[in-house]
Amino acid sequence: MNHIKHVAIIMDGNGRWGIKHKNSRNLGHKEGIKTVEKIIKSTIKNKIKYLTLYAFSTENWKRPKKEINFLFNLLEIFLTSKISEFNKQKIRLKIIGKKNFSNKINNLLNKSEKKTFNNKRLQINLALNYGSKNEIINAFNLILKNNIKITEQSIKNSLFTKNIPDPDLLIRTGNTKRLSNFLLWQLAYSEIFFVKKLWPDFNEKDYNKILVKFKKTKRNFGNI
Ligand code: FPP
Repeated sequence: MNHIKHVAIIMDGNGRWGIKHKNSRNLGHKEGIKTVEKIIKSTIKNKIKYLTLYAFSTENWKRPKKEINFLFNLLEIFLTSKISEFNKQKIRLKIIGKKNFSNKINNLLNKSEKKTFNNKRLQINLALNYGSKNEIINAFNLILKNNIKITEQSIKNSLFTKNIPDPDLLIRTGNTKRLSNFLLWQLAYSEIFFVKKLWPDFNEKDYNKILVKFKKTKRNFGNI
């Protein structure tokens, strides 16, 4: 049986869910938060140490301003209301991606990371303004600046995910089979699960089914 240390998720399908139900993409994002909460609970129950959630990509800036503002408002409400709960549950929050938001959001993110820094039960990596290509370029520039040799280890140590084990599995909801510039280096040997359901419809039962399937998967890592 495979042990699971790290699950990464592309939470896709909010917009379509919202359009289908009330003709509002933003409603889908709001509903998506409920799934985030359920999946965090379930991740703790399953004693998984790292959960990485793709919340906003470097490409998502192309969306209408109204939707972007709505998403960051949701994030603000989510973090402001959840941080004490995260501390109670011993959850650490880490942001991966470039923090170049408004001062208000940057401060909130820094404060949330600082307040939860010592928590050890579960680490949630929230990918915000995250793009894998950008992360890799950033890593190479760091290596050049420090005049170090390019090795697998030096690249690993220069990514936003430094010190975090690579995901054992990636889940993408929303019936789309692509990686969308997410953790391209880190997913090299992860098992990938594509799910038809839209993110707001995804539930603990679906999640647990995937975890059980993963545990039974034979992982070869190039061997036979
Ligand atoms: C992808 O669905 C989802 C996003 C770009 C945002 C994900 C955000 C949330 C789940 C809510 C915010 C999360 C936190 C943790 C505060 P999409 O909009 O691309 O859906 P579509 O493919 O149907 O258009």
